[in-house]
Amino acid sequence: SEVEYLNYDVLSDFGWRPEDDDLFGKAAAADLDEEDYGAFEVHPGESLLEAAEDRGFAWPFACRGGACANCAILLLDGELSMPASHVLPEELMERGFRLSCNGMPITDELKVVYNVKHMPELDDLLL
Ligand code: FES
Repeated sequence: SEVEYLNYDVLSDFGWRPEDDDLFGKAAAADLDEEDYGAFEVHPGESLLEAAEDRGFAWPFACRGGACANCAILLLDGELSMPASHVLPEELMERGFRLSCNGMPITDELKVVYNVKHMPELDDLLL
C-alpha cells in the first residue's frame, strides 16, 4: 500500500483544516519538508507506525498497544484494519480517526494526517 502523509502541525501553521477541499493538493504545492509531507510504501505485515519508522520518520507514539491514542492519525482516504480492542470510541472511528501503532493498511492507497493527538477530540484519550 502507498501512504500519502501530512503532519497535523502543517495544518495548524497554514490555517488548513482536515475537511478542506484538496488538502493534499495544497500540501503538494507548498514545498514542505519530507518529514511533513510525502509518501511511502507499507509492506504486508507492517503497521503504519512501523512502516513510518522503518522509512526513517519519527511519528508520535507511546504505548504501541492501542491504549493511549498518542499515535492517532486521521484517515482521509483508504482504510486501516485495527484489532477489536483499542482506546478509540466509535464516534471517532466514524470520523476517520485510527491508531498507527496497530493499524494495517487494507487498501492500496491511503491519505493520512498524522500527529493529530493535538486535536481537541483526542484530549481525553491521551495517557
Ligand atoms: Fe498508544 Fe498507539 S501508541 S495507542
